[in-house]
Amino acid sequence: MGEIEAPATPQGWVDVTVKAAALNHHDVWSLRGVGLASDRLPMILGCDASGVTSEGRDVVIHAVINDPDFGGSDGTHDPKRSLLSERYPGVMATCVRVPQVNLIDKPPELSFGEAACLPTAWLTAYRMLFTQSGLQPGNTVLVQGAGGGVATALIVLAHQAGFRVWVTSRSDSRAARAVDLGAAQSFPSGARLPERVDAVMETVGAATWSHSINALKPGGTLVICGATSGDNPAKAELTKIFFKPLRVIGSTMGTRAELTSLTRMLVTTGIRPVINRTLPLTAAREGFAALINGDVFGKIVFEP
Ligand SMILES: NC(=O)c1ccc[n+]([C@@H]2O[C@H](COP(=O)([O-])OP(=O)(O)OC[C@H]3O[C@@H](n4cnc5c(N)ncnc54)[C@H](OP(=O)(O)O)[C@@H]3O)[C@@H](O)[C@H]2O)c1
Repeated sequence: MGEIEAPATPQGWVDVTVKAAALNHHDVWSLRGVGLASDRLPMILGCDASGVTSEGRDVVIHAVINDPDFGGSDGTHDPKRSLLSERYPGVMATCVRVPQVNLIDKPPELSFGEAACLPTAWLTAYRMLFTQSGLQPGNTVLVQGAGGGVATALIVLAHQAGFRVWVTSRSDSRAARAVDLGAAQSFPSGARLPERVDAVMETVGAATWSHSINALKPGGTLVICGATSGDNPAKAELTKIFFKPLRVIGSTMGTRAELTSLTRMLVTTGIRPVINRTLPLTAAREGFAALINGDVFGKIVFEP
C-alpha cells in the first residue's frame, strides 16, 4: 500500500472513485510477472471494479482496454488489447482512470461488491457458455475445478440457463457447495463420469486436460479460458481431438455488450455472484494468500 502522484487523465478517459474491487487469478499471475514486464512497474493491480464517476453515475468498469485504432466489432480479437493493471494502472486503489467507453451503468439491484465481481470472472463465464459453447437448454456441461471464481460463475449461469451442470473438485466441501449453487452432480477431480457430456468448461489446464477430452461426447465442445495448473499437459490428446471429432475453443473475457447482457441477466433472474469474503483493501494480502492457497469458494472483494 502506498501513495502515488495522480497520473494525468488522457483525453476520452474518466476518473472513477472505486467502491469495490474484486480479486482474480490474473492478479496472482501479474504478481508472478506473467504478462507484466518489470519495465511497467510499479503497477497498481486489479482488473475488476465498480464505482462512481465525478458526475455521480454508478458504474461497472469493462476491464478490456482496446487499442484506439482497433476497428473490429469484437474487442477480444484486438491483438493490442490489455486488461487494466497490464498497461494502465488497475483498480485496487481509491481512484482509477478508464476510457469513457469502458463504463456501463451499475444496475441499482446489484451491490457495488456484486457488480465488481462481473467484469472478468463472470463475463468470461458468460461468454464461454452463451457465445462459445453451442450448448442448448437440457444439455450437460462439465465444469472443472468447482471452487474457482470463473467456475462458480459457470455453475450459477449454466444452471440458470437450463443446462445440466456436473462439476469436479479436489475438495469434498467445495463440491458440496457447488451442488448448493445448482450443480446436478459433483465428482472428485479425474473421476469417471456416468456418461459423456456435451461440453466441458476448462479453466484448470494441465491437471484436468485429459479428463476433459475423455469426458466429451463425439462432436462435443471444450471451451478453455485458463490453465491455472499449467499449460503443458502430459498428453495433448491430439488423436482423440480429431477422431472423436471435438471442437476446442479458446475464449477470453467478453465484449462490453456481453457485460451489459450479463448485468441484465442478473437483474432479471435474481442470481448473484458468489462472494467468499469482503476485505478492506488494506487486508489485500490476506485475500491474495487465500486465493494462492486455493482456499476459496467464489470471489474475494476489496473495499478501499
Ligand atoms: N482468458 C480469460 O479471459 C480469463 C478470465 C478469467 C480467468 N482466466 C483464467 O482462468 C483460470 C481460473 O481463474 P479463476 O480466477 O477462476 O481462478 P481461481 O478462483 O483461483 O480458481 C482456480 C480453481 O481451479 C481449480 N484448480 C487449481 N489448481 C488445480 C489443480 N492442480 N488441479 C485441479 N484443480 C485445480 C480449483 O478448484 P477446486 O479446488 O475446486 O478443484 C480452483 O478453485 C486462471 O488461470 C485465470 O488466469 C482467464
